Amino acid sequence: MKDEHREGLLDEKRLFYPPVGFSTKAVVQDPKIYDLGKESKEFWGEQGKRLDWFEQWDEILEWNHPFARWYAGGKLNAAYNCLDRHLNGARRNKAALIFEGEMGDRRVLTYQDLHREVSQFANVLKSYGVEKGDRVTIYLPMIPEAVIAMLACARIGAPHTVVFGGFSYEALRDRIQDSGAKIVITADGSYRRGKILSLKENVDLALKVKTSVEKVIVVQRTGLSANMEKERDVWYHEAIKEAPIVCAAEPMDSDDMLFILYTSGTTGKPKGIVHSVGGYMVGVATTHQWVFDLREEDVYWCTADIGWITGHSYLVYGPLANGATILMYEGAPDYPEKDRYWKIVEKYKVTILYTAPTAIRTFMKWGASYPLSRDLSSLRLLGSVGEPINPEAWMWYYKNIGGERCPIVDTWWQTETGMILMTPVPGITPLKPGSCTVPFPGVQIEIVNHLGEPVPKGEGGYLVVREPWPSMLKTVYGDDKRYADTYWGQFKGVYFTGDEAKWDDDGYFWIIGRADDVINVSGHRIGTAEVEGALVDHPAVAEAACVGRTHEVKGQAVFAFVSLKEGITIHDGLISELKAHVVVKIGSLARPDDIFLTAELPKTRSGKIMRRLLKDIAEGRTMGDTSTLADASVINFLKENVKPKK
Ligand code: WTA
Repeated sequence: MKDEHREGLLDEKRLFYPPVGFSTKAVVQDPKIYDLGKESKEFWGEQGKRLDWFEQWDEILEWNHPFARWYAGGKLNAAYNCLDRHLNGARRNKAALIFEGEMGDRRVLTYQDLHREVSQFANVLKSYGVEKGDRVTIYLPMIPEAVIAMLACARIGAPHTVVFGGFSYEALRDRIQDSGAKIVITADGSYRRGKILSLKENVDLALKVKTSVEKVIVVQRTGLSANMEKERDVWYHEAIKEAPIVCAAEPMDSDDMLFILYTSGTTGKPKGIVHSVGGYMVGVATTHQWVFDLREEDVYWCTADIGWITGHSYLVYGPLANGATILMYEGAPDYPEKDRYWKIVEKYKVTILYTAPTAIRTFMKWGASYPLSRDLSSLRLLGSVGEPINPEAWMWYYKNIGGERCPIVDTWWQTETGMILMTPVPGITPLKPGSCTVPFPGVQIEIVNHLGEPVPKGEGGYLVVREPWPSMLKTVYGDDKRYADTYWGQFKGVYFTGDEAKWDDDGYFWIIGRADDVINVSGHRIGTAEVEGALVDHPAVAEAACVGRTHEVKGQAVFAFVSLKEGITIHDGLISELKAHVVVKIGSLARPDDIFLTAELPKTRSGKIMRRLLKDIAEGRTMGDTSTLADASVINFLKENVKPKK
């Protein structure tokens, strides 16, 4: 097993039961729900009824392995389900979105407001020729327009592809090109730790080469001057001024594409994960309501950026489909002070907080005095997502943020799964710190060995999903074969998650980490091949190999081994130059923490780089089997010279 810091977890015996006051009021109180979930098709058929459909489906699931069509024949619209259906009753004037900017500005949009703004913007998109099926790239900061833009696309049936604002112009360009987007929606800039970052500039650079983009719509967020190209660029506030406020929601086939979201895999090119309307919406609405125990009066805060799947499923689509009040914060957790999150919880009386282990470990490092100096008594449920949470961080979160009264839902899922697949259902599932507990009702998960055979309790192996689930990815954009090979080709008949896990004697699941060449840095998926590609793109580099090493706060950090081209002289700034090159090619999230220059990389006799050994070196642990090495002196050199950090 990889990542030794997860070893010994099965010794974690502490059990936390939901507080009585919590369970007796919970949305789900009856553990029988797990039995009902065993008949997954019927179970999901039942859940399908929670949405508004323009036309009823003919079949709950059409399964033509490995292609699923959920709610086949049904017609619906995601934006209609998030907005229109809430307008007839008391929710009409309920806050749908409470926004706080980093500089302290605030905006509240009721469901009616959001409906109007979405409809108007949908009309703007239509006026620029966007039709059902056309792709739209969204490259925006965490501002209400990001939600508006996503829902406007959904309303007219144009799949959006949101690109995280931290990605570089080259990464943005790749995604624009792969999706063939017609429109890019961006902002003049975004606030981060009091500074302004220009997004528009990146869009201009990305569009320097010929692409399919016809229009760039620019939200004025910071007042930073932006180069507006005549014909191509238009200000959002000007475009929307005269736009009509009525726009019918396009009836979409359940199986139509709702969005594409790019994520890293084993090979160099990020994959465009495609999600379809019907199954995705049923999956996220159901899990959002049950996992977060949603009540009408909740103030729900998911801290994830809109550029990641968590932002899609649990900031936008799930909560709004359920008529929740969502809180959205634009900026950094330590601006202007390290208590910003807790000030927000206190100010808006947040009841549900969903964040990532890396954030929790950062707060731990800053010290408990920040949360303890604020009134956090409104909180009643906490969530964690994106990477394994270590029991120590879990306990800290439980105690210092949750005041020992809030259950923690540790939710395991992926961009590809669209919805949470493993999690406690907080009113009924006892918690174990560090475990994502058990599969959600209606989801069939197993751990198998390398032959694909289920392993007994107490053992570990590869995490697979045995039956299709509603919000599973439909395909990889433009590449059905890659979809079939990557996810369904490893073990016969089942979906392979790419993760390794164990299960204990109680049947609780413990995620170990990725089994493939994906590194999870602060909950962000980074493909080693992508970083290696960025490094060898630098003129001085001959070869590069990257591995993930354990990092106290980020979970993992990128450690790169680089060999230089013949004749290159090493100078003082070279390492920083190489790191900066990765930032330009991908974005700062992929910047290696360590780069070690070496004359050679350890290879097998057939020339394959032995990453396993490099990982041992980066982690500073005893080396595994070295017998297949072509030249043992390479590894001996590395062993003696690399000083691993923790
Ligand atoms: C990891 C994020 C342990 C896992 C929603 C998975 C987790 C990858 C957890 C997907 C968790 C996510 N415990 N590991 N609760 N949640 N992961 O696509 O390795 O950005 O395969 O989706 O994150 O990352 P992605």
